[in-house]
Amino acid sequence: MRLVFLGLAGAGKGTQALVLSETLGLPFISSGDMFRYHLSQNTELGLLAKGYMDKGELVPDEVTIRMILDRIGQEDCRKGFILDGFPRTLAQAQALDAALDSGPVNRVLYIKVGEEELVRRLAGRISCRKCGTPYQLDLLPPNASECPRCGGELYQRADDQPDVVRRRIQVQWPEIHGLANYYAGQKKLVEINGEQSVEQVGADLLKTVNGRI
Ligand code: AP5
Ligand code: MG
Ligand code: ZN
Repeated sequence: MRLVFLGLAGAGKGTQALVLSETLGLPFISSGDMFRYHLSQNTELGLLAKGYMDKGELVPDEVTIRMILDRIGQEDCRKGFILDGFPRTLAQAQALDAALDSGPVNRVLYIKVGEEELVRRLAGRISCRKCGTPYQLDLLPPNASECPRCGGELYQRADDQPDVVRRRIQVQWPEIHGLANYYAGQKKLVEINGEQSVEQVGADLLKTVNGRI
């Protein structure tokens, strides 16, 4: 099973992809988390990506494609994988299609949420530095400083400042629109209403991957 999550910043891709990867026992691969990991290790790639991420712009296709295709080529991905945040441009989708020799992408799960709600969610998000799990600040115990899932440090992402959030949405929207058309053409696109509870979105996703939608 090779699944792709599509959706604007704050749509809930990470939240849902993490749960689904545990349910299905498939590796979870997030391009954003990989860039942030590289940055935490001060690698050349991490520093290059930071220049784009902090402004809400996309990291160039060439480096992004190389990083993800390297990861997908690893042994644990032969049985399948869940991609969060990649592909994000048409060139990335075409590179992915061309590289998959173990079988094509099965489904593209497009989580749709309106802009106002995206901005609200990202203003209240706090993330785990270690496992990447996102939380809503007001749903955590007051003064929580550790990730309930893994004990990692909680922090606010640099690109969750309101002006950067707006830029991310502006930059991502035309690309996502193009990708939705591309995958609809391949009959792989499934649209999910992301403006429901986390549990309900998860239930809809599970029905989809089990072939009931
Ligand atoms: P990335 O890290 O992928 O960020 P993003 O796409 O902007 O998406 P987010 O992680 O912000 O949102 P999400 O959909 O995962 O939502 P979440 O589950 O956290 O990319 C960051 C940057 O890296 C990009 O801007 C770009 O520079 C670069 N990059 C990455 N991939 C790239 C690529 N392929 N090509 C080029 N550049 C790339 O949920 C958000 C919040 O809402 C959380 O607080 C969560 O708790 C809450 N929430 C989730 N679901 C619900 C719900 N149903 N109801 C209420 N609250 C909810
Ligand atoms: Mg995410
Ligand atoms: Zn954690």
